[in-house]
Amino acid sequence: MEEKDINITTEDAENLLGDGQWKDIIRSLDEGIHIVDQQARTILYNQSAAEIEGLKPREVLGKSIFAVFPSLTYENSTLMQVLAQGEEVEQSQQTFVNMKGQQITTVNKTVPLLFSDNTLGAMEISRDITLIQEMAENVNNLRNKFGAAARSSVDSDKLAGSATALSNNTSYTFADLIGENEDFQQVLNDAVRAAGSDSSVLIIGETGTGKELFAQGIHNASTRASKPFIAQNCAALPRELLESLLFGAEKGSFTGASTRPGLFEQANGGTILLDEINALDYDLQAKLLRVLQEGRVRRVGGQKEKKVDVRVLATMNKTPEEAFDEGSLRQDLYYRLSVVSLTIPPLRERRNDIPLLLEHFISHYNQKFERSIKGVTAKLKEALFKYDWPGNVRELQHMIECGFNLLQKEPFIGFAALPLHQRQKLSNLQQGEAIELAKTLHGGEVPNLNDYLDEVEKQLIKRALNKTEGNISAAGRLLDISRQSLYYKIKKYELE
Ligand SMILES: Nc1ncnc2c1ncn2[C@@H]1O[C@H](COP(=O)(O)OP(=O)(O)OP(=O)(O)O)[C@@H](O)[C@H]1O
Ligand SMILES: [Mg+2]
Repeated sequence: MEEKDINITTEDAENLLGDGQWKDIIRSLDEGIHIVDQQARTILYNQSAAEIEGLKPREVLGKSIFAVFPSLTYENSTLMQVLAQGEEVEQSQQTFVNMKGQQITTVNKTVPLLFSDNTLGAMEISRDITLIQEMAENVNNLRNKFGAAARSSVDSDKLAGSATALSNNTSYTFADLIGENEDFQQVLNDAVRAAGSDSSVLIIGETGTGKELFAQGIHNASTRASKPFIAQNCAALPRELLESLLFGAEKGSFTGASTRPGLFEQANGGTILLDEINALDYDLQAKLLRVLQEGRVRRVGGQKEKKVDVRVLATMNKTPEEAFDEGSLRQDLYYRLSVVSLTIPPLRERRNDIPLLLEHFISHYNQKFERSIKGVTAKLKEALFKYDWPGNVRELQHMIECGFNLLQKEPFIGFAALPLHQRQKLSNLQQGEAIELAKTLHGGEVPNLNDYLDEVEKQLIKRALNKTEGNISAAGRLLDISRQSLYYKIKKYELE
């Protein structure tokens, strides 16, 4: 090799690294950094590398790697490979027993240090993922142990209508999706049609809009219904863990990581739901795309590819444009996944479904808690229509559930039966409305100024009292008026 003919001393290579701050930075990194010169002599070995390998920097510095690591050969050393070829080598996972006898799993990247096209040295960057590796195994064991319960990420509370979990790890069918709004019905129709095919489906919607319900509905209406449905959230786990969870792992050439199939193999014949696909590591998105295109998976650290037949459904809680803008979603993967794309409208854009959903959840919890709640008060209902519902249907469901818990004997859920934070948000809306109302109190005419100001004052005092749960001193402080003066106004407006 041409590079090999140029004789460069250790000092040359060290000079190349230069002086100053960045050497200090390298020394303090969490990643292990190991730099060798052309003769495979170590010129930089940071504390993290020492900890990973169970050595002390002084045992390594200035020595040939073959003297320090007897198991290394020209063939199996990635540093040598990079020195010889001048090209980067990425090793997704490696498990070995270090000098202290500890079993360590790392992911490594080895890059050439180039100067005028000559390879002056090589740098290995190692990340210790032993803990992540152990977590991966635990997650997998738990999944196997608890089967259905651990596989599905859907809210544990089952809706009325299908009281028991279905036999394939799912709980919902299309029949559980409540909504008559025209746009919602359109999405539902598209989903029903998509269920008949084998295409990938991308389900887009804000949190709590029912993406998982749609996904399970599609699976259960498809020919795959009797096969597994496996849901995995892509945001919940670090990249390495997800990679081996999705694609499986093979016992490496070293000891360690046990061989196990990934979720793709486990879902064979069925459906995989990848939640928050845009949170999946960018490189892993490319690997996923290859699996989708080729219908084959290769376990991490494995050699052989295995054919899998899995339908992929994916969800996102932002629009594809937003995801492209922030660089969190590969366009090529997007085109592959969005053969069918379903955009579920947020609840604030289908407020006409609120009464139906209220009725549905109230009847569900009446059954569950053996109660006979009749509905929500007119005042609360009015506020619910104006509310923005950032948590969508899930938020509405939880609000009703909370109402059931707080309500004593009353037949209607009102403001008093809401959690404090929700009561505040909703009663603020009501006050805004009341001030509007005060303006139009006089049939659209300019109102009498004193009457109008009285009305506004009254509403503001109500709001403060609501916030402080009736504590007059605290409300006075909020309004910045004395307790006596507030007391007088409470009497005046008959607010007791
Ligand atoms: N159209 C609907 N009809 C009945 N219940 C619904 C509907 N949409 C959502 N829900 C209820 O809201 C809960 C949340 O739905 P789901 O888990 O599908 O939301 P999601 O869109 O996946 O949210 P996230 O992005 O937070 O995961 C469900 O458990 C279900 O009880
Ligand atoms: Mg979800």
